[in-house]
This record gives sequence, C-alpha cells and structure tokens, in this order.
Amino acid sequence: MDSFPLVDPIPLPAPVWLFKVLQSTTLALHFTAVHLMVGGLFLATWWAIRGRRGGDGRLTTASGEIAHLLPVVVAYVINLGIPPLLFAQVLYGRALYTSSILIGVFWIMVIFMLIAAYFIMYQMAKRADTGQAYGWLGVIALLLVLKIGFVYTNNMTLMLRPDAWVEMYRSSPTGAHLAPGDPTIIPRWLYMMLGSVGMAGIGLMLLGLKPGIETAAAAFLRSRGGMLLAFFTLVQMVLAAGVYHAQPEAVRAGLWASLFYRGVFGAWFLVALALVALGVFGAVTAARRAWLPATLAGAAGFVNIVLWVLFRDGIRDVTLGLHGYDVWARNVNTNWSIVILFLVLFVAAVGLTGWMAMVTFRAKGADEQHA
Ligand code: HEM
Repeated sequence: MDSFPLVDPIPLPAPVWLFKVLQSTTLALHFTAVHLMVGGLFLATWWAIRGRRGGDGRLTTASGEIAHLLPVVVAYVINLGIPPLLFAQVLYGRALYTSSILIGVFWIMVIFMLIAAYFIMYQMAKRADTGQAYGWLGVIALLLVLKIGFVYTNNMTLMLRPDAWVEMYRSSPTGAHLAPGDPTIIPRWLYMMLGSVGMAGIGLMLLGLKPGIETAAAAFLRSRGGMLLAFFTLVQMVLAAGVYHAQPEAVRAGLWASLFYRGVFGAWFLVALALVALGVFGAVTAARRAWLPATLAGAAGFVNIVLWVLFRDGIRDVTLGLHGYDVWARNVNTNWSIVILFLVLFVAAVGLTGWMAMVTFRAKGADEQHA
C-alpha cells in the first residue's frame, strides 16, 4: 500500500539538484552550530562543576569563556536550522510532514524545550560573569538539548519508515509517541551528540587563539581541544560504522552500489583520520599560540560534516527509493530570474552571517557584551 500523501500538483520552481545543493549546504552549517552548542554546553557544564569542586581556576575560566559564547551559538543553531527545514519540506514534504504529525506532541515540544534551554544558557553566561555557580543549570540545559536532538533524529528516521506509519497512527492518533524501536535511531543520535564533543574540541582550539584570554587558560583550551577532537572523532568513527550496519540490508546494498556514496564514505573516513591526527598535532603544540593545527582542523571539520550530510542524504534517498519515493521524479518549472535573485541574496546572507561570527569571535572586553 502506498502510504505517501499525494504529490503537490504545483511544480517545483527550481531544479531538484539546486534544492539538494542548498539543503546540504545549509544543513552542514546547521550541524556545525549544533555540534558547537551541544559539545560546548557539555564542556562548560562539566568544567564548571569540576572547577568549583576542585578549586581549579583554569577549568572555571575555560568554562566561563565557553558559557559566554553559548547564547550566540544557539542563535546560529536556530537560524541555520530553518533553511534546511524549508528545503527538506520542498523535497521530502510528503514523508516529513507525515512523520512530524505522527510524533506531533514531541515535535511541537521542541519549540518550548528550545526556549527553556536558550533562557538557561543566557543565565549561565550571566552567572559566569558574576562568579556564581551554574553547573546545575548546565545539566538542565544539556538534558533539554539532548532531548531535542533525539526528537530530530526520531523524526528524520521515522520519515524513512512509511511501512510503520499506518500502524503507529492506528495505535494512537494523538501524536504523543515517538517512533517505535528502530535500530538506526540510537547510533544516529549518538553520532551527532557524542561527535559534538570532538567538534567542540576544534572550537576550543580556535578559542585558545583568541587574544585577551589568560595564557595558561588559552594553552589549556588548545591542548584539551586537540585531545577531545582526537578521542571523540575515533568514537564518531565507531558510531558511523554502527549507523551503517544498523541499516536494513537492502539500504546497505543500495548505498554500496552507488559509486558516489562509496566515494563520499571513503572521503569521510580519510577526513576523520586527518582530524584525529590534527587533534594530536594541536595537543602536542598547545604550549605555543600556533594557528596551523586549529585552522586546518576547522577546515577539515567542516568538510567532515559536509560529507556526513551527503552520506545521510544517501541513506534517505536509497531508503525512500525502496518504498517507491523518487525525489528526482518531480515536475519542475524553473523561473530563472527568481532563482538568480534568490542565489544573490543567499550568498550575501551567508557572507553576512560569517562576518557576524568573525566579529563575535574577535570582540574583546566591553564589546563582547554586545556581540
Ligand atoms: C537545540 C536545538 C537543536 C538540536 C540539538 C538539533 C539537533 C539536530 C540533529 C541531531 C539533527 C540530525 C538528526 C538525524 O538525522 O539524526 C538535526 C537535523 C535537523 N535540524 Fe536540528 N537541532 C536543533 C534545532 C533545530 C531548529 C530550531 C531547526 C529549524 C528551525 C532545526 C532544523 C533541522 C533540520 C531541518 C534537520 C534535518 C534536515 C534533513 O535531514 O534534511 N534544528 N538537528
């Protein structure tokens, strides 16, 4: 039985490949921000608790530096999450709307959990400035963002399971339950959440280069950043293997049959190895204020995220293809003048967003309060 709702008769206003490029680019930016937020929140919380208990000033300073940046990073998570959501709805709306409705209560709850986590992260930054304890607040915010990540993984997995939809709706149409046990959900969620600590390691390596941070705390950030990057990239590699092996056999065969996806996975593996090496390099050179390991790790980290986005897109297209949903089989009626105008504005917006991130990173002293 075909579980997909009918296709919208209005043709797409731009080619499918263009939507795919835009979706993957903006999703890679969203994932970058998600990693920095989840990993940064974890480290700020952990070091706030340990620093206060053990009276270790380096940990407290490092935690405060991160806590200060978290509200800005959340703004990036949200604003960079909206474009891929819109593009995903254009390309996969019939699957994504259905799964979103089936887990509707949790899906709507994301908004409230996000507002609460955002508010808490502002309080953490404030308390860090005034020397008050905030580890306990970090624990609450962390639980909220981990739950939000879980709801996202759940929805992005459920949209690939049209065979489960009817039964789920029959068992309860209220939307108050998440997708039933699917072996791919946990490794996929852990890949994003634990991988965040490694990616946040790159953020620490870069933060350790920022002028104005005490020398000891800056060297500590660079060294811990490198170590975390190396260790958690290895963890992520194991989880990536878990994500692949948890897929049904037909999906694995479909991915393997494609030269493109084989190439993407191979490239992802090599870049992950490079990240481990760069993490070790960053840790052993941490005493100096060296830009090379941190900037190389930043570039490799982003490439790693892009490749993962492409690979999970492959999982989606192969899985939906097996259920008869071909994302490429859409009526297209391109309006090039609108498309070109959109692209010009899009590039300008990405440039402005990058510029704002640089200003925030470079802001010192009183200016930081306004960044
Ligand atoms: C605390 C906030 C957030 C966290 C922790 C988070 C985390 C995640 C995670 C873990 C995934 C990957 C799911 C998977 O495939 O396994 C994801 C995907 C996604 N997120 Fe976020 N997210 C957050 C906020 C948002 C917001 C506010 C939006 C949009 C308004 C958004 C839009 C998206 C989209 C569109 C995807 C997947 C698109 C696709 O598969 O094509 N996210 N997010």
